[in-house]
Amino acid sequence: MSERIESVLHEERRFSPPASFRASARIGDAATYQELYRRSLEEPDAFWSEVASELHWFRRWDAVLEWEEPFARWFAGGTTNLSYNALDRHVEAGLGNKVAFFWEGEPGDRRVLTYAEMLREVGTFANVLKARGVTKGDRVAIYLPMIPEAAIAMLACARIGATHSVVFGGFSAQALVDRIVDADAKAVITADGGYRRGKVLPLKPAVDEALQRCPSVETVITVRRTGSDVNMEPGRDHWWHDLAKHASPDCPAEPLDAEHPLYILYTSGSTGKPKGVLHTTGGYMVGTYLSTKHVFDLKPNDVFWCTADVGWVTGHSYIVYGPMLNGATQIMYEGAPTHPAPDRLWSMVDRYKATVFYTAPTAIRAFMKLGDAHPSRHDLTSLRLLGTVGEPINPEAWTWYRRVIGGDRCPVVDTWWQTETGAIMLTTLPGAHDAKPGSAGLPFFGVEPAIVDVDGNDVARDDGGYLVMKRPWPSMLRTVYGDDDRYRNQYWSEIPHVYFAGDGARRDADGYFWIMGRVDDVVNVSGHRLGTMEVESALVSHEAVAEAAVVGRPDEIKGQGIVAFVTLEGDRTGDDGLRSALRDHVAKEIGSIAKPDVIHFAEALPKTRSGKIMRRLLRSVASGEELSGDVSTLEDRSVVEKLTGAG
Ligand code: PRX
Repeated sequence: MSERIESVLHEERRFSPPASFRASARIGDAATYQELYRRSLEEPDAFWSEVASELHWFRRWDAVLEWEEPFARWFAGGTTNLSYNALDRHVEAGLGNKVAFFWEGEPGDRRVLTYAEMLREVGTFANVLKARGVTKGDRVAIYLPMIPEAAIAMLACARIGATHSVVFGGFSAQALVDRIVDADAKAVITADGGYRRGKVLPLKPAVDEALQRCPSVETVITVRRTGSDVNMEPGRDHWWHDLAKHASPDCPAEPLDAEHPLYILYTSGSTGKPKGVLHTTGGYMVGTYLSTKHVFDLKPNDVFWCTADVGWVTGHSYIVYGPMLNGATQIMYEGAPTHPAPDRLWSMVDRYKATVFYTAPTAIRAFMKLGDAHPSRHDLTSLRLLGTVGEPINPEAWTWYRRVIGGDRCPVVDTWWQTETGAIMLTTLPGAHDAKPGSAGLPFFGVEPAIVDVDGNDVARDDGGYLVMKRPWPSMLRTVYGDDDRYRNQYWSEIPHVYFAGDGARRDADGYFWIMGRVDDVVNVSGHRLGTMEVESALVSHEAVAEAAVVGRPDEIKGQGIVAFVTLEGDRTGDDGLRSALRDHVAKEIGSIAKPDVIHFAEALPKTRSGKIMRRLLRSVASGEELSGDVSTLEDRSVVEKLTGAG
């Protein structure tokens, strides 16, 4: 937190929404946004009451917000249910035959699920969970590929008041253990496997390995997806289809307190242990509902496609909850974006006539590199709006996305938010605002951001600083699961009386925000958030490693890559064999996404006189930059000379 934040990106281009887009947009001019935004800050009770009233409540709230910093209760006293609002409400309104999901598996198999069918599937699975002894307040771990059962399982938990904890399928057995144990989960929902790049990604075997160390788990329910042979533990393990056969589809949604825990989602911070971000019911529902509606300008005939995995927050908020609360038709895809050919996604846009497409900058950069021929081969004229999320997007990738995918006609929204914020916080509204490539835009309704220095004082326009939120918002995290102190210390203490998000940013003269990236020890690899300390603890848990320091370095496609500096035990020497053993070890401890791109063996790590590793210096070494800045606190200068010479 002590390093100076310098803003270097200067981008002058602006892209206005086309007149035709503006004309039919939900919010078609800046003045309307401005008035609604003003109202959301000045009359928050009236503003949020109106939004919440568009959804179903079993009991209306007594107070819109009860705030005792840093603990919020939104819609206090109200009772509702997200599964009811995402399903029953639409079916009761006569939309039962509307398609909820056009789903495609990687091998090309297809399923179409309407809202009425989703309601039946969710009701059935909710009864399955109940029959297995899962009740309101229990935690359920979900470790699935991108198949409809992922959304069904989440909505079934929400229906009965069980709290889900989705674990990304790319995480290892060990990462699964950590998450199951921390949440004290009673049941695990998984599959025999999923398809990725033409291969079967085994999931059940990882669950079997994990459960040797998870005494809390009583039940495992497995979806048959690939037909691979799996071990079934009698008494504990059941096939989804066997249990579903005997269950009734009729399961009334439980009225839940607005602050009932909806889900836990683990995310990386600056310590070695991931944090269980806790989201609750009423505020999260209202926040994801409203942001989906306005940021994606959603209309009844849209075909919305968010390419995220349900293992990340984007899949929670902008596949399962936000779009379904809005009754949207969506595309869901299981596999790799370039399988079996680099035009897979574009062929699907064409086939399903997708209208709104939301993806990550990493994917955009990868597509840009693959060349214009792949998208050009398909009719993409159904698209009317594009979005990005997850990492800063470079203006070159932004303009490519707009020109080649959006045919120079689709507005692009760059949405900034986090696992912790639950919903989009900064964005342009596509019909109301000019977009500036590389800028996340303006605050969404009810969001009061600021750029401050370390003491919490506002910095001047265009100066870099820390991005903070000055007031609570409905979809905010409520705590770190089981650890209120950690919640307070991580988010509300470093800078007094504001939520500190971990990012550096600047705000330009027009009020647009430009995100400069994390200022803590978090790296963003292909839009996946990883703590450098987590990777370090994985490395030092290997018997050959004495000390490790991990930093990010810029990567053309992935945004950031991981570089590890490692010192070895005793007289061990580093070679390529050990490098690959260490990479495998990290994959085993966390998952393949955390494998270092580069491992430097070093005799010593550069430290200050008080023993702190000098990360700034390592970042410069990792990026191949000229070493500059103050190294006067460095304990042993020769360490740096050896490092810069190291391979
Ligand atoms: O650094 C910011 C970056 O991703 C972080 C949040 O990561 P996660 O909780 O995994 O959620 C990602 C999906 C919402 C932020 O602290 N980030 C997210 N969106 C953007 C971004 N950086 C720049 N521009 C964005 N649009």
